Amino acid sequence: MIRSVITGTGSALPVRRVSNAQLAEQVDTSDEWIVERTGIRFRHIAGEGETTATLAADACRAALAAAGVDAQDIDLIVLATATPDQTFPASATKVQAMLGIDDCVAFDVAAVCSGFLYAVQVVDSMIRSGVAKRALVIGAETFSRILDWEDRTTCVLFGDGAGAIVLEAQDTADEGGRGILTTKLHADGRHNQLLYVDGGVSTTGTVGKLRMKGREVFRHAVTNLAAVMTESLAMAGLSADQVDWVVPHQANARILDATARKLGLAPERVVVTVDQHANTSAASVPLALDVAVRDGRIQQGQIVVLEAMGGGFTWGAAVIRF
Ligand SMILES: CC(C)(COP(=O)(O)OP(=O)(O)OC[C@H]1O[C@@H](n2cnc3c(N)ncnc32)[C@H](O)[C@@H]1OP(=O)(O)O)[C@@H](O)C(=O)NCCC(=O)NCCS
Repeated sequence: MIRSVITGTGSALPVRRVSNAQLAEQVDTSDEWIVERTGIRFRHIAGEGETTATLAADACRAALAAAGVDAQDIDLIVLATATPDQTFPASATKVQAMLGIDDCVAFDVAAVCSGFLYAVQVVDSMIRSGVAKRALVIGAETFSRILDWEDRTTCVLFGDGAGAIVLEAQDTADEGGRGILTTKLHADGRHNQLLYVDGGVSTTGTVGKLRMKGREVFRHAVTNLAAVMTESLAMAGLSADQVDWVVPHQANARILDATARKLGLAPERVVVTVDQHANTSAASVPLALDVAVRDGRIQQGQIVVLEAMGGGFTWGAAVIRF
């Protein structure tokens, strides 16, 4: 049986780190309001020369080093992003060139904040069907460039960054072996107007700015995330009390708490980085994963659940024996 195994993780953040207090000098907000409503304390904001592709390439270098894999041995790059460097070509091809890979398959996936989960399912399917053997799966974003810095209801919530994993095909006869056990995705396009960008290539010919009805998104997020985690665990034949770690999309600490409570998961088993990175959209899950792997919390053989929800709406979860 072929399984996709995570053999390395990596992440990258822009140099500039901005506190709530610094933001409050520009926008009518306060550290108190942001911390109480969201749990966010800092975010990183990309500067000149830092783009989605440069952050992605840095995250990949770290993941390749952790996996002990040579870049030339990568045969597939899938980059989840809603903020590509250019409308085309895919930023994944830019990352390929930056890593010096002569030939591989490379493309982007657009599912906003759940983009990394979408990319994981696509790559896992390609690995298990034998199309790819060794892949880089990336979530990378520069949301600071699509924020309306006059709109305090959205601009305080997001940050920039990138996370990457190396996923490798491993043959295992053992049901209890390592690898991705299940993935489950959903989309419901009727909710486009709750979280969207008010521009686009084929409509306004502009990039546009992020718009969100935060309270309604919040309500849907808790319901959908709890449901998809329950669904993906059931598919893997596991119950919530067998989960060692949940690595959720880092949108809001209150969403993380409410979702964990709904599933009866102890808060200590939830990896939280939203305080340090804010919402980095598709980058948030692989970024948080890398933090918890590098600080030693996530260990080989443990059951790890990844989950995310974003614009569309799109949402999904993956259950992994790490
Ligand atoms: C955005 C969010 C933090 C807002 O929290 P909330 O408790 O719903 O707050 P509301 O939007 O009802 O606003 C409450 C008040 O705070 C004010 N406010 C909004 N943003 C503010 C800010 N940055 N600073 C200070 N005050 C702010 C509002 O104007 C409103 O004031 P009013 O009552 O005088 O009109 C919350 O809804 C949320 O996190 N939603 C989910 C967002 C999300 O995760 N999106 C990404 C999913 S991928």
